[in-house]
Amino acid sequence: MTPEQSGVGAVTVTVVVDGRDLQVPAGASVLDACDLAGVYVPRLCAYPGLEPVGDCGLCFVRIDGAEVRRACAVEVAPGMRVDTQDEEARGFRTGSMKAVLGDHPHVCLVCPQRDGCSRDDCMYGNPPETRCCSEFGRCEIAKVAAYVGALAEAPGYQYRELGATRDHNIRRDLDLCIGCGRCVAACDTLEEAGSALRLVETKTLVAAAGDGPGGWAPRSYLGRHVAVPKAVDLRASGCTFCGACVLVCPTGALTAPGPKGATWLAKRKERTTLRSPVLPPEDRLPFTAAEVQAVPTCAGVFRLFAGTGAVLQISGVMNLRAGLEEALRGSLADEAQTFVFEAEPMYTQRESELLAHHLQEHGSLPRGNDVLGDLFDEDDDLF
Ligand code: SF4
Ligand code: SF4
Ligand code: SF4
Ligand code: FES
Repeated sequence: MTPEQSGVGAVTVTVVVDGRDLQVPAGASVLDACDLAGVYVPRLCAYPGLEPVGDCGLCFVRIDGAEVRRACAVEVAPGMRVDTQDEEARGFRTGSMKAVLGDHPHVCLVCPQRDGCSRDDCMYGNPPETRCCSEFGRCEIAKVAAYVGALAEAPGYQYRELGATRDHNIRRDLDLCIGCGRCVAACDTLEEAGSALRLVETKTLVAAAGDGPGGWAPRSYLGRHVAVPKAVDLRASGCTFCGACVLVCPTGALTAPGPKGATWLAKRKERTTLRSPVLPPEDRLPFTAAEVQAVPTCAGVFRLFAGTGAVLQISGVMNLRAGLEEALRGSLADEAQTFVFEAEPMYTQRESELLAHHLQEHGSLPRGNDVLGDLFDEDDDLF
């Protein structure tokens, strides 16, 4: 559904999502209805305001107590009843997630050392191409996989050797592309974008490169395709470098590396007409003395959030409870509404990772960490 089709002011119909009556625009998808109801349904190919490819198979719900359907591919009808927690639908989602992960590196999500590892050397001997990328800790695919809960049973990833390129500030790693089509939809839909991208069959690329692993067999629907520029590179394809493709990509396939890339992307984000992504809910705790008292006294990292959801502070501490108690007495105490914490012996490293991710995503550090700004070298380029 395009933004125009989302139809504010259009005719509405009443649907029931998980037992709750809801007025939604006629013509809206069931997935849009769930979003309007504030009920999260997993998705990788759908993005608010963009037409989904409809292939990821993560958005299954039961409709009217009968069929299990893809929520992004069904239009609402008057009186329709949608059950997002149906057992069979959830089973289908798990199967789809496993298939997608078979075509995407995910050691980074299941390794017992994932949070404390330097990721330079792997103590389990996993080769670099099967490990996490620069998006570790913030990629949408990891959040969705954790929510769907298919991680432990996912098949091993088979490296496709498709390669990476860079155009201006945009890095494209085809081995991390799951072919979800979001970038193509954004590039085709948004006024500021240049319709510069297309999906191609992965097998074609492997054959064209002539060096693909023999017997490679894609296991997911999405894994059959990857997104590439229409012509030889982005410039030649009419790219306006609006950044929308990078903003919607749920994996590390499209990134803007280094501080320069982060600054560029933050400016693109300010100007974009894209809507915000719909992400799995995060279990945040109210930032109160009673909740803090229940936090363990081990080493770890905590994050404080404002009522708007903005991150106010990221801190690695030897004693989580003591660190949070100090924060309750600090200058951000009135503004901070919620918090999350992770027990983590290597808390300084984890803090640095989370700060680096925040810098990459927002182009600046959280307000409570401003003092740490000089830890990051302006000229450091991660590409
Ligand atoms: S996007 Fe990167 S960090 Fe996220 S699951 Fe894929 S390889 Fe791992
Ligand atoms: S940066 Fe280029 S390729 Fe990406 S959405 Fe904008 S115009 Fe399309
Ligand atoms: S580059 Fe990203 S957004 Fe585009 S198809 Fe690949 S995974 Fe999806
Ligand atoms: S979101 Fe429905 S199939 Fe991908």
